[in-house]
Amino acid sequence: MPLPRRGWVIVALLLFGGICGAKKDPSRSRNVLLIVADDGGFESGVYNNTAIDTPNLDALAQRSLIFRNAFTSVSSCSPSRASILTGLPQHQNGMYGLHQDVHHFNSFDSVRSLSLLLSQAGIRTGIIGKKHVGPAAVYPFDFAYTEENSSVLQVGRNITRIKMLVRKFMQSQDERPFFLYVAFHDPHRCGHSQPQYGAFCEKFGNGETGMGWIPDWKPQHYSPEKVQVPFFVQDTPAARADLAAQYTTIGRMDQGIGLVLEELHSAGFLNSTLVIYTSDNGIPFPSGRTNLYWSGTAEPLLISSPEHPHRWGQVSSAYASLLDVTPTILDWFSVPYPSYSLFGKRTVSLTGKSLLPALVMEPPWATVFASQSLHEVTMHYPMRAVQRGPLRFIHNLLNRTAFPIDQDFYVSPTFQDLLNRTQAGQPTHWNKTLHSYYYRERWELYDHTTDPTESHNLASDPHYAQAVEELRGLLLKWQWETDDPWVCVPDGVLEDKPSPQCRPLHNEL
Ligand SMILES: *[C@@H]1O[C@H](CO)[C@@H](O)[C@H](O)[C@H]1NC(C)=O
Ligand SMILES: *[C@@H]1O[C@H](CO)[C@@H](O)[C@H](O)[C@H]1NC(C)=O
Ligand SMILES: *[C@@H]1O[C@H](CO)[C@@H](O)[C@H](O)[C@H]1NC(C)=O
Ligand SMILES: *[C@@H]1O[C@H](CO)[C@@H](O)[C@H](O)[C@H]1NC(C)=O
Ligand SMILES: *[C@@H]1O[C@H](CO)[C@@H](O)[C@H](O)[C@H]1NC(C)=O
Ligand SMILES: *[C@@H]1O[C@H](CO)[C@@H](O)[C@H](O)[C@H]1NC(C)=O
Ligand SMILES: *[C@@H]1O[C@H](CO)[C@@H](O)[C@H](O)[C@H]1NC(C)=O
Repeated sequence: MPLPRRGWVIVALLLFGGICGAKKDPSRSRNVLLIVADDGGFESGVYNNTAIDTPNLDALAQRSLIFRNAFTSVSSCSPSRASILTGLPQHQNGMYGLHQDVHHFNSFDSVRSLSLLLSQAGIRTGIIGKKHVGPAAVYPFDFAYTEENSSVLQVGRNITRIKMLVRKFMQSQDERPFFLYVAFHDPHRCGHSQPQYGAFCEKFGNGETGMGWIPDWKPQHYSPEKVQVPFFVQDTPAARADLAAQYTTIGRMDQGIGLVLEELHSAGFLNSTLVIYTSDNGIPFPSGRTNLYWSGTAEPLLISSPEHPHRWGQVSSAYASLLDVTPTILDWFSVPYPSYSLFGKRTVSLTGKSLLPALVMEPPWATVFASQSLHEVTMHYPMRAVQRGPLRFIHNLLNRTAFPIDQDFYVSPTFQDLLNRTQAGQPTHWNKTLHSYYYRERWELYDHTTDPTESHNLASDPHYAQAVEELRGLLLKWQWETDDPWVCVPDGVLEDKPSPQCRPLHNEL
């Protein structure tokens, strides 16, 4: 696909040296720009979706290493953001579910987050957009325009406003290196919170009556017949219209990313800043967000280092986890992880790794872990998972209860369509049934070499008995290492004394 003009300009400026107006000596400072999408997936040119136009992500990819096997450790907003910003899985940092309102989850007070460690190391920190984590003392930022003191539509979806805030951050006379976290609220659903703007807020700021106007946004419209329906979504008119709305919202974020990168460039920091683009969890469709399937945890991940042009534009197959983001950024700034413990237990250590070596040479990384406990406060459905190479192994700790559905997804046209069709006994054109979606086996094993859509559970297939044994051991080992309070669920009770162990319940599970 030909790169749009702006894309080429950015690439050319980098290649041929367009540092203008730099206030700092780039050789003395190294900065980080972390861009996170909200429920974003692989709807972009760089990830080979040819139905959507994302010129700015595609241009960023031209000077990034593109990960095709990157995964979040948890498929829910606050838990994922807390894991990104601490390097600790949700069960270890304490953000078991959503942060806002009645859900009220928070990380433990003594967790040392990335923004805390960086600010202690003399790095200036900023956040623009959706924060959705707490408490404030664990996640301090010097510069903060978030839902805590602004409208999330303005700081998370109004790309003109976001551009102006990035400019304000960059114009500071502060000489310290910076870590700027731009957390778009696009392409999150909207039907549950602001339905007047459409299922994905795709009308917010489009200039139509009552929608307001975002001066920098040129809305792209997609016809439902043209979208690419992922294998885990039903191919029906309702789902296609839903996806078309999602594409328009992704287009707004893509244009916003272009504006943010232009600000970085015109402030003179493009050549000293590590740029990371990813998303928090799977797309808000069935088997996506709140699920630990591939479709719920696989994420886009672009890492652009001005110092490592050798692998720009290449696709890496190495397995990366969003638990690696904190170690990567600490490594970039040469800030060590401190020695401390939580609740007087063992020293906390990061189980993720720095991704910077991948910018030099393809690494052999092949394993990632995942851990989900809740989304909304009522949605206790703990799952733990490991993917090693092509094998994804999931433990549904409490599989006898129905898999819960969140409020936001429930009112979506896609889910309503599944409910309506199922109730009416019409064909759903979906790969699963509501019954199979709600009631899962306790153990699930999928082999991506033969089954990329995760359609055949091999957990009780004798040919895979050895693999199941190994993956189960690997997963349990990680749970113990990361002090997982759920490590004995469902058939035991965790007792810490004399030494941590599971005591049997004899409950027939
Ligand atoms: C950008 O940084 C790289 C690596 O530090 C350096 O080789 C290159 O000359 C720099 N380019 C400009 C335009 O400053
Ligand atoms: C996109 O498709 C091309 C051609 O099949 C492939 O080489 C490339 O790795 C794919 N990109 C990603 C990010 O998977
Ligand atoms: C939000 O908080 C920041 C301090 O981090 C402050 O500078 C800014 O003025 C606040 N914005 C609003 C709209 O209150
Ligand atoms: C977006 O932000 C700009 C700049 O603050 C403002 O002029 C515009 O009205 C905003 N658009 C909407 C839809 O709120
Ligand atoms: C839960 O898992 C167990 C063990 O695999 C299985 O027997 C049961 O049918 C599953 N589902 C429910 C709803 O109990
Ligand atoms: C589902 O059925 C309800 C009630 O008949 C209807 O109002 C709604 O539009 C339908 N939604 C979809 C997506 O089919
Ligand atoms: C789901 O769809 C994919 C292709 O879209 C197909 O390969 C797979 O077998 C389907 N699975 C089920 C359970 O129907």
